[in-house]
Amino acid sequence: MKVFVNKRIPEEGIKMLEEAGLQVFIPEHENLSHEEWLGYCKSHDMILSVGADFKYNQDFFNECPNIKAIALYSVGFDHVDIKEAVQRNIPVGNTPDVLSKATSDVAFLLMQSVARRASYNFEKVKAGNWGDFDPLHALGQELYGKTLGIFGLGRIGIEMAKKSKAAFDMEIIYHNRHHNEQAEKELNARYVSFEELVAASDVLSIHANFKPEQKELFNRSVFEKMKENAIFINTARGGFHHQKDLYDVLAEKKIWGAGLDVTNPEPIFKDDPILELSNICVLPHVGSATIEARTEMAKLAAENLIAVSKHEKMPSCVNPEIYS
Ligand code: DGY
Repeated sequence: MKVFVNKRIPEEGIKMLEEAGLQVFIPEHENLSHEEWLGYCKSHDMILSVGADFKYNQDFFNECPNIKAIALYSVGFDHVDIKEAVQRNIPVGNTPDVLSKATSDVAFLLMQSVARRASYNFEKVKAGNWGDFDPLHALGQELYGKTLGIFGLGRIGIEMAKKSKAAFDMEIIYHNRHHNEQAEKELNARYVSFEELVAASDVLSIHANFKPEQKELFNRSVFEKMKENAIFINTARGGFHHQKDLYDVLAEKKIWGAGLDVTNPEPIFKDDPILELSNICVLPHVGSATIEARTEMAKLAAENLIAVSKHEKMPSCVNPEIYS
């Protein structure tokens, strides 16, 4: 079977595919046009899909009836029309767990960077403006005993909660589709309504899977209900927040600050005024960007395709209903 991998991934994954007898193709240049990408999809049996630039929607499935499986090199699958894949019996794999620690590390990093105004201070140093010791300038806030609100307490959210509890003894509240019994038992996490999450969090961190109906859920009317000292963290998907509204509330100092590993749109425009603010830290979607996580993602994505090549169930499948 022929596997199309649209971008280089750690060698371990490629080796596994090849050792399993699969024929792997990775294009020479990585910034494929839509036409080039589609052309390669049409001439292969399976796809190991890196990034979210290409959408696996109804048009794609109509154009590529040859495709037998898609292994995403991500935990998120919001760029795939899962319903359509189910209808066509095409397994779609993702890479959960192996990136939870790395991604929650970035949420934790952003929380501290924003609380202690790291970006602002770094910019000052770069501008040659070290400044004198000033008891009143650029003061941060401490996180000890504060309330961390998690929107979407799944695998990544719980890792963020654990770190925040261990480091700062933070109170954990969360809003989710379901109760998370592990978090309630181990971290004393408390399930709250969305309204309480917004109003009571000193740090509000998003860790949910993105669904179209949640587009820009975090908009001005929500930000205005947050505490004045609140820090907003988004490491999930940029679509969760309304970026201009976020800019406004940050510029008006209605909340303390924001840490973003994902933006709306993504990539962010170079001249987006939000980048000029002193109470923000923005990273270019690097949540899973560690050697360890990216290697494990490559192996898991490969395992997903190898399973399909052997007519077995994908070990990590987002549409397991196709097997029932
Ligand atoms: C994921 O795994 O979903 C990351 O956000 C990378 O896309």
